[in-house]
Amino acid sequence: MSRLTISASMHTISSMLTKTIFSLCRSALGSPSYEADGVAIFQGDCLELMRRLPAEVVDLTVTSPPYNIGKEYENVLSLSQYLDWCEDWILEIHRLTKSDGAFWLNLGYLEVLGKGRAVPIPYLLWDRTPFYLIQEIVWNYGAGVACRSVFSPRNEKFLWYVKSATSYCFNLDDIRDPDVKYPNQKKNGKLKCNPLGKNPADVWQFPKVTSGKDRSSDERTPHPAQFPIAVIDRIVKCSSNKGDVILDPFIGSGTTAEVGLRNGRKVIGFEVNPSYVEIAGRRIDSYLERKKYAEAQAELALGI
Ligand SMILES: C[S@@+](CC[C@H](N)C(=O)[O-])C[C@H]1O[C@@H](n2cnc3c(N)ncnc32)[C@H](O)[C@@H]1O
Repeated sequence: MSRLTISASMHTISSMLTKTIFSLCRSALGSPSYEADGVAIFQGDCLELMRRLPAEVVDLTVTSPPYNIGKEYENVLSLSQYLDWCEDWILEIHRLTKSDGAFWLNLGYLEVLGKGRAVPIPYLLWDRTPFYLIQEIVWNYGAGVACRSVFSPRNEKFLWYVKSATSYCFNLDDIRDPDVKYPNQKKNGKLKCNPLGKNPADVWQFPKVTSGKDRSSDERTPHPAQFPIAVIDRIVKCSSNKGDVILDPFIGSGTTAEVGLRNGRKVIGFEVNPSYVEIAGRRIDSYLERKKYAEAQAELALGI
């Protein structure tokens, strides 16, 4: 079989799988509020929507839930209600995850009255799940609020969970860090460092998505708590493969969807707020337009 035929067959299989997962979602949940080739976003409460889906259909979930700190998209609950609610939707994610799948959970800090002003939410939540915890990643961002009485907060965590402790995806070569201090150093005539770069370690430095006059990030949307594309790109590349199904039950501005598409994955998103679904839809449309334009330019350049 020629390379072209193999690639065409892979494409056909991948489109069939996409149709299967999206038609499964459609028959369980009805029409999505936003749909494009490879993405479906359903407006509604994620817990309720996830409970209607069949088990083991998702390869990777990447998400950041409300932190219960009074943001505009939150209904603040008591601490125990909040943790119980988190446990409920994490349990649903576990049920939806395939046996070799993964779950990346981004969490910040909250106040525990009388006990702590900024307690890392992972301390309160990490073992309230049947998932197996592989690692905690610290995401360090350069800028943020300045403080006088405490150190200025500059990090959030990602908990990297898997369903099986022995069988999970980790595509290290796809996410190696090329910023190596001595790339040409040799031992016994062999390069000491992998030519693709080093393991990026468990502290990641990526800027936050900023807003404001003259300092707004290019990727900024009107959503108040947007993931940076670069962080999610690393997670999607290391914890999933082309054609895999990615879920984000709190999809907000659609970062996970854009990154999933950029990497040839299929994305299912849930979002309770209809105006955020619109923001995500406009964002994905704009990405697809840019992609189409870039492809047309490349074809012109090749004289196809
Ligand atoms: C921290 S933000 C996620 C932002 C997202 N990571 C991004 O890059 O834009 C959390 C999102 O969860 C949504 N949300 C809150 N409760 C929800 C629920 N029960 N079901 C689905 N979405 C919910 C909020 O409206 C908000 O957009």
